[in-house]
Amino acid sequence: MVTPIASRYPKVYAHWQRDPEGFWAQAAEAITWIQKPKIVFDGKAGVYGHWFPDGVMNTCYNAVDRHAEGGRGEQIAFAYDSPVSQSKRNITYKELQREVSAFGAILRDFGIEKGDRIVIYMPMIPEALVAMLACARIGAVHSVVFGGFAPKELATRLNDAKPKLLLTASCGIEVQRIVPYKPLLDAAIEMAESKPEAVILLQRPQAQAEMKKGWDWDWATLREAALAAGKTSECVPVKATDPLYILYTSGTTGKPKGVVRDNGGHAVALKWSMEGMYGIKEGEVWWTSSDIGWVVGHSYIVYAPLFHGCTSVVYEGKPVGTPDAGAFWRVASEHGAVALFTAPTAFRAIKKEDPEGKLVKNYDLSKFRTLFLAGERADPDTVKWSEKILGVPVIDHWWQTETAWTIVGNPMGLGALPVKLGSPTVPMPGYDVQIVDDGGKPVEANKMGNIVVKLPLPPGCLPTLWQQDERFKEAYLADFPGFYKTADAGYIDADGYVYVLGRTDDIINVAGHRLSTGGMEEVLASHNDVAECAVIGVADQLKGEVPVGFVVLKLGVNKPDDVIEKELVALVREKIGPVAAFKTAMVIKRLPKTRSGKIVRSTMKKIADKEPWNMPATIDDPVTLDEIKAALQTKGMAQ
Ligand code: COA
Ligand code: AMP
Repeated sequence: MVTPIASRYPKVYAHWQRDPEGFWAQAAEAITWIQKPKIVFDGKAGVYGHWFPDGVMNTCYNAVDRHAEGGRGEQIAFAYDSPVSQSKRNITYKELQREVSAFGAILRDFGIEKGDRIVIYMPMIPEALVAMLACARIGAVHSVVFGGFAPKELATRLNDAKPKLLLTASCGIEVQRIVPYKPLLDAAIEMAESKPEAVILLQRPQAQAEMKKGWDWDWATLREAALAAGKTSECVPVKATDPLYILYTSGTTGKPKGVVRDNGGHAVALKWSMEGMYGIKEGEVWWTSSDIGWVVGHSYIVYAPLFHGCTSVVYEGKPVGTPDAGAFWRVASEHGAVALFTAPTAFRAIKKEDPEGKLVKNYDLSKFRTLFLAGERADPDTVKWSEKILGVPVIDHWWQTETAWTIVGNPMGLGALPVKLGSPTVPMPGYDVQIVDDGGKPVEANKMGNIVVKLPLPPGCLPTLWQQDERFKEAYLADFPGFYKTADAGYIDADGYVYVLGRTDDIINVAGHRLSTGGMEEVLASHNDVAECAVIGVADQLKGEVPVGFVVLKLGVNKPDDVIEKELVALVREKIGPVAAFKTAMVIKRLPKTRSGKIVRSTMKKIADKEPWNMPATIDDPVTLDEIKAALQTKGMAQ
């Protein structure tokens, strides 16, 4: 193992291996419990066990009140910085406590009780974060839906979560356009079988929404009335195992998976990660540039930094275009951030516009210590370039919506290990990561295979899918008994470094956003003229991957191909949303298949990625692959 003596990692990981319950019991001391757990782990509860089953606590108390009342009242909790709306707002812990408490009281007035679900469909504004924390305060379960999703996706989530209330704003703001949310929301409610009882909407000056009387409620009016009346809400005691939130993520079909997060284990693991993984001290300024619609936003814009008493920068903007490729340096320097966590794609976007990183020199980044990258593979070029222009360590780490925190990373707080480009480094305490073949047999060092994690998963990871224990077992636990299937493939080298190379299912990563090609195929197949189709993720310099669709038309269709292709692009935007970044569809005569009728998507991908490929032995007709190459060439996509 190429471990420098200075890193405490080997000792800490060995401690966890030797005594996992002792390790997590110790970590649990760092949060405030209403009833301290006597049992650390119950392997008989739930699907694979429950952490801290007899513990009682409140997530909002740990994130807000504990600091507001414990000496950080005047410290900034959220530093909102929004170049797209040209506004900034600092909210101290004391102010946050007042806002969250009042909003909790408003939710209560709407009849919300512990365990009720609330869907939040909002842009990156402080009110959205206040709403999340207010849900946690009163024991309601929030489910945040990313603003770039279309009404149908929102409707699917409404049907699954069955929320009593929907919280929204009049619009989101993209670089070139305002996105009015209300029409999208109304369409989703119209489509959904399970309709919320009411909507609370925050009017933003950039676009006013029309309100339906008795159904839509004005956020600002409710807030002012609650504050004027001195309304407050208490932090409700919840069981450590009660759900804090549901976050839907792409599965292998169009039906997203409702990842459940519990309260106690989540707080313990995230609090540990701030120091152990990220090396952040309590009270420091931390910045994650993502969106609260994603797990990265949940964990590292909202919860973890607050559990740790940090100032969290809340950025409503992009790495480029708001206004230029120096935006990240401006924000980091202005707020004095010691670290930034974002997706590699953001740095590729900056590199494209400012290849020499000249704009960095305009800003004082003397406080800035570390750049953390996750959400997609950190390609060595991007890591090297970022290191060069920033002059600080660039740390790749690997995790998933399902886990809420790092599976494999370089533990800055325990002492950094040497970086090996292309590897997110080593498993965090809590994770026994192994590589197995398709039959579940361990494979030797440096050999590719399925990346699995020995059960139980550590605190913070999903205990199940929302009201779908069977789907959870089927999707994650059935293939490799005793292990959690990450659905990522990779290898572990002789030094124990893990390499994560790609998914084993149909998930692709587009600009750090997780999307299902199966879901896109369902949309293409729903077009009247389409007989069959395939969608693959094709390598892209900026976004990592972009989806490309191939369709075969029904017999007798005589519309021009380009008209159908445009319709298909529009259809995916309409059904899934702009976030799918689906811009290329091509009509072809037939799909390349094996003799047993399986579409050879991985070979199609290799051709599109201009990688070496072998003719699959079982191909039905080799000419079909030449046809794919020719089709890609017409779009300028293959050699
Ligand atoms: N609401 C509405 N639309 C949204 C949206 C939102 N919250 N977020 C993105 N979109 C739209 C975009 O405007 C774009 O629309 P267009 O097709 O009309 O141009 C489309 O969805 C695709 O978005 P994206 O893939 O993000 O491309 P982009 O060109 O807008 O931006 C980057 C590219 C790299 C700058 C951007 O993806 C980025 O900042 N990524 C950082 C990574 C990140 O935050 N990852 C989250 C997990 S860590
Ligand atoms: P999400 O659930 O949106 O966070 O996406 C999780 C998936 O993104 C993982 O299963 C991986 O496929 C991919 N991913 C995230 N981070 C990394 C990383 N650091 N290296 C490689 N792949 C990553």
